[in-house]
Amino acid sequence: MPLNRNVLVVGGAGYIGSHTVLALQEAGFNPVVYDNFSSGHRDAVFSDHVVEGELSDHARLSRAMTDHQIGSVVHFAALIEAGQSVIEPLLFYRNNVASTVSLLEAMQAAGVDRLVFSSTAAVYGNQADTGLLHEGLPVQPINPYGQTKAAVEAMLKDTAAASGLKAIALRYFNASGADARARTGERHDPETHLIPLVLQTAAGERDQITVFGTDYPTEDGTCIRDYIHVTDLARGHVAALEKLLSTDEEAGAFTPINLGTGQGYSVSQVIETARRVTNRSFTVVESDRRPGDPSALVSDPSRAHAVLGWRAEHSSLENIITDAWNFMNRGIG
Ligand SMILES: NC(=O)c1ccc[n+]([C@@H]2O[C@H](COP(=O)([O-])OP(=O)(O)OC[C@H]3O[C@@H](n4cnc5c(N)ncnc54)[C@H](O)[C@@H]3O)[C@@H](O)[C@H]2O)c1
Repeated sequence: MPLNRNVLVVGGAGYIGSHTVLALQEAGFNPVVYDNFSSGHRDAVFSDHVVEGELSDHARLSRAMTDHQIGSVVHFAALIEAGQSVIEPLLFYRNNVASTVSLLEAMQAAGVDRLVFSSTAAVYGNQADTGLLHEGLPVQPINPYGQTKAAVEAMLKDTAAASGLKAIALRYFNASGADARARTGERHDPETHLIPLVLQTAAGERDQITVFGTDYPTEDGTCIRDYIHVTDLARGHVAALEKLLSTDEEAGAFTPINLGTGQGYSVSQVIETARRVTNRSFTVVESDRRPGDPSALVSDPSRAHAVLGWRAEHSSLENIITDAWNFMNRGIG
């Protein structure tokens, strides 16, 4: 019997979700988007099948799974802004954790037992001293956003052990870039991520870009992060689904897997590359460190290669910034 390739993509109208819908279609899956459009965009829905609904709406979710004969779920839907999570933690726990309970119950009701979950490098917290971040390190987030992701990972592990759910949590490093054909890209509001902020400054939409901290123990004194092209992330979800659908995946397995490049770039390197790619000059202002920013966050990507056969292929800084800039200049605001 052919494997069921109908996938419910919860949060599929968002930044990473919309790229993943495109990658799923290219890989022969049939994605069905489920989204409440709180931060997603209607023009970023690339499936003919879309259900508008809340993550907390158990009945709507299980009906969507039954109606579309869903075989697996990819779960992106979350509030994502760490700073806001410090101010409104309960909002984050309700949207990111409590609503995910509804999703898992709806999956059980509909007999769907495979899940890929959007987790984050934020679950590692501040362990930069240990070198490359690998999945064997303790989970110790330092803000409520990271706590909500850690809580869902724990919930998936317990549910997998109890019910036979097969789940993979993908811990993304710094998602960035855009579809090479500019069909979709990054449009967060408010925007807090470095690359779109730098490019908005290059485009004259912002007066200046602020560098927080120039005295870190790195070569140029600015923070180092692991930037991963969103198309590589999207391909990582396809690889994770293929793994969950394969016969060698055991029932009850829960596996956290980093998606990163293993290569870090500093804030100054990002700014220099943006100047080169855009050919624009813009104002850079140096400021004090922000509390809680580790000097370097870089993944050990070896598990993704070993378990999923996945490696980043599109994630040079030049390519990430070129694709992000092309998307920004295609005229959709
Ligand atoms: N962007 C990053 O750098 C990054 C890094 C690590 C992890 N992540 C995780 O990846 C996932 C996707 O991030 P993104 O950048 O694409 O964010 P996004 O805001 O663009 O996408 C989230 C999508 O989920 C939908 N959504 C949110 N709450 C919902 C709810 N209650 N019911 C139904 N739909 C809901 C939104 O409308 C949106 O379409 C999130 O879980 C985020 O925590 C993102």
